[in-house]
Amino acid sequence: MLLRKAPDLTYADVTPKSLYLDRRKFLRGMGIAGAAALAGARLWDLASPRTSAFAATKFSGLIKSPFSTTEKQNTYDDVTHYNNFYEFGTDKSDPSKNAQKFQTAPWTVSVEGAVKKPRQFTLDEILKLAPLEERIYRHRCVEAWSIVVPWIGYSFSALAKAVEPTPKARYVAFESYYDPRQMPWGKYAGIDFPYVEGLRLDEAMNPLALLCVGMYGESLPNQDGAPVRMVLPWKYGFKSAKSLVKIRFTEKQPPTTWNRMASNEYGFYANVNPKVDHPRWSQAKERRLGEFFKRETLMFNGYGEQVASMYNGMDLRKNY
Ligand code: MTE
Repeated sequence: MLLRKAPDLTYADVTPKSLYLDRRKFLRGMGIAGAAALAGARLWDLASPRTSAFAATKFSGLIKSPFSTTEKQNTYDDVTHYNNFYEFGTDKSDPSKNAQKFQTAPWTVSVEGAVKKPRQFTLDEILKLAPLEERIYRHRCVEAWSIVVPWIGYSFSALAKAVEPTPKARYVAFESYYDPRQMPWGKYAGIDFPYVEGLRLDEAMNPLALLCVGMYGESLPNQDGAPVRMVLPWKYGFKSAKSLVKIRFTEKQPPTTWNRMASNEYGFYANVNPKVDHPRWSQAKERRLGEFFKRETLMFNGYGEQVASMYNGMDLRKNY
């Protein structure tokens, strides 16, 4: 039973009960060493300054994207202090505290699989692959809250073109970085890491699919997925994997973290759909961070004109 309203849910609430009970058993069985490690992590966190290890890069000459919404943007503070990034803890306030020392340089992304030109990209190479745009997108989390963010990046298709997918490529698999030494909180998150996500190739090639390197005119803060992440504005937020290290073009549909955890609750497509409720709460409305009254959730989060045709003929009740 829901004890809290959806906007206040953490992904721990969203985790199926059996798994959650197992996790509690695990925490109980973890013993003193594990508890001490947790306490150590907290102490270390309290002792460490709240500044980022790397100064943010400011971007200039950004192209204004025609895909941008004119809706009021959320504050930088909202977007950097209410995050889901389970590698750094399951509370919305954890990533802003725990990700500050995350080392994001040097960084490479391996792009591989069904492509003619597999290769590793340094972050610098990624930044130079296409002109950077500012795209102000609505971003709707499955937990029924939403934000409006001026992201920076370019269409994922630019990266795909650089590696030349072969006719075998039908899907794209995304993998986030995972290092238990830098992310000790991940052990207690109740999900498996590395965090993995996937798209059908046509979804990945849709111009709205953003390979994102920044927000609010600067490089991404660690808690928002530095140094490079996906942003898919017509899908629930969990599809947008953060801190990417691997992108693989595949023939078969790749596994995805939340679908693997609870396939009855999180589908592969995860398109924002106010008519298909989550088994444990309604998706009809959402709360924009910073606002009191809820607003109606829009089909495809309001991006239907650009994306609806990709799902023609599909039963979106079944393919949630
Ligand atoms: N990527 C990784 N690697 N780990 C995560 O826990 N959480 C997802 C997604 N990407 C997550 C992730 C979820 S549930 C959401 S809603 C968005 O990131 C949140 O992005 P934001 O914190 O920038 O708003």
